[in-house]
Amino acid sequence: MHVSTADAGSPSDNTVPLRTDTVRVDLGARGYDIIVGVGLLDQIDRLITPVLERKRVAVITDSNVGPLYRTTVEAALSRSSITFETFVLPAGEATKTFGQIERLTEALLAEKAERGMTLLALGGGVIGDITGFVAAILLRGVPFIQIPTTLLAQVDSSVGGKTGVNSAHGKNLIGSFYQPRLVVADMAVLEQLPVRELRAGYAETLKYGLIDDPEFFTWLEAHGTDLLAGDRDARRHAVVHCCQAKARIVAEDEREAGRRALLNLGHTFAHAIEAEAGYGGRVLHGEAVALGMVLAFRLSARLGHCDRGDGDRLERHLIDTGLPARAGDVDINWSPAALIEHMSRDKKVQDGRVTFVLARGIGQAFTTNDVPDDALKAVLAEFADGPQ
Ligand SMILES: NC(=O)c1ccc[n+]([C@@H]2O[C@H](COP(=O)([O-])OP(=O)(O)OC[C@H]3O[C@@H](n4cnc5c(N)ncnc54)[C@H](O)[C@@H]3O)[C@@H](O)[C@H]2O)c1
Ligand SMILES: [Zn+2]
Repeated sequence: MHVSTADAGSPSDNTVPLRTDTVRVDLGARGYDIIVGVGLLDQIDRLITPVLERKRVAVITDSNVGPLYRTTVEAALSRSSITFETFVLPAGEATKTFGQIERLTEALLAEKAERGMTLLALGGGVIGDITGFVAAILLRGVPFIQIPTTLLAQVDSSVGGKTGVNSAHGKNLIGSFYQPRLVVADMAVLEQLPVRELRAGYAETLKYGLIDDPEFFTWLEAHGTDLLAGDRDARRHAVVHCCQAKARIVAEDEREAGRRALLNLGHTFAHAIEAEAGYGGRVLHGEAVALGMVLAFRLSARLGHCDRGDGDRLERHLIDTGLPARAGDVDINWSPAALIEHMSRDKKVQDGRVTFVLARGIGQAFTTNDVPDDALKAVLAEFADGPQ
C-alpha cells in the first residue's frame, strides 16, 4: 500500500487539472487503486478507462443519488463513447435484501449483460455492498468499480471487497468477498450529503483511531467538528488517512482471519441494535456503530481491560459531534435479552461464543470471545438505565 499525490493532468475536454491522492490496495493480481479528490465524477470516464475490459458499463445507483449525479456520470461516459445502462434502486438499508439482488441480476440479464462489462456502484455503502455482490455472481463474476458517495463508503465500505445483503436472521449474513477494480472517491459529493449521514460516516472514521491509531483519534478530537461543518482539508486528510489504514489492514488480512476483525469494533453491538431497530432508517448503521463502540469500551472497562476514562472520552467526543452516545439517543427497545439474542446470530459466533472487539485503551483494540454473559448483561442493563 502506498499513497501518491498527483496532478491528474489536463484532460482533452479542457477541464481543470485535478489534484488527487492515490492509495494502493496491495493484493497482488487483485490489487487496485483508491483515487481520492474533488470533482472526479466529471472525469469518471477518464479515471475508469484504464481498468475497463470493454467499453460497456452498468451504473447502479439509488433514488437519492441518481437524481443528483447520474447526469454528470452519464455525460462523462458518453464523452468517451463508453456504452451504459443505468439502474436505480430504492434508497436506504431496506434495499439490502436478497430480493433486490435477484431483481437487479435479472434486470442486468434482460439488458443482455455480458462478460467483461463493468458494474459501477454509484452511491453509499448500500449500493456498494449490493453492486459488489451482484458483480460477484453475475455470469460467475464481472468486474466492478466503487464510486462511493457517502463519508461512510469513502472511509470504509468501498474498500476491501466485503459485499452482500441482510437476511431476516440478521445483518450482512449473505455475501461474498469480491474486490473492486478501482475506487473513485469524489469528496465534492459530500457537500450534498445530509448532516445525519455525514455524522454516521464520521463514526466509522473515529473507529480507525480507536483501533490502533491514538494520534488520529486526538486529531479528530481537534478537527472533527470542522470536518463535519465542511472543512475540505480536514475531510481530505481524514478520507485519505482512513483509506490508507483500511488498505493496509485488507492487504494484511483480506479474508478476516485475524487483524481485519478489529474493524468490527462496536459492530457486534451495532448489528444487534440495527436488527432491533429494523432496517427502516430509525437507526443508521454509523449511529449504531457509535453506540456499539461506547458499549465496547464500557465492557472493556468492566472486564478490567481499560480505564473507564477512555470510554468517557469517547462519549464526550460523540456528544460534541452530535452522534448518539446514550441509550436514550435512539428509539429502540434496549432489553439486554433481546440484544443478546440478536448477537447470538452474528457471523462472528464460533462454537456458540460471540466474538467481541474490546480495547486496552484508545488505539489498543483486540479481539476476544472470552466475555462472560453476566458482564455483557450488566453492561447493557446499566447502559439502558443510565443518563438518557
Ligand atoms: N462492505 C463493507 O466493508 C462495509 C463497511 C461498513 C458499512 N457497510 C455497509 O454500508 C451500509 C451503510 O452505508 P451508508 O451509510 O453509505 O448508507 P447508504 O448507502 O444507505 O447511504 C445513506 C443515505 O445517503 C444517501 N446518499 C448517498 N450519497 C449521497 C450524496 N452524496 N448526497 C445525498 N445523499 C446521498 C443515500 O441515498 C442514502 O439515503 C450498511 O449497509 C453497512 O452494513 C459495509
Ligand atoms: Zn460498519
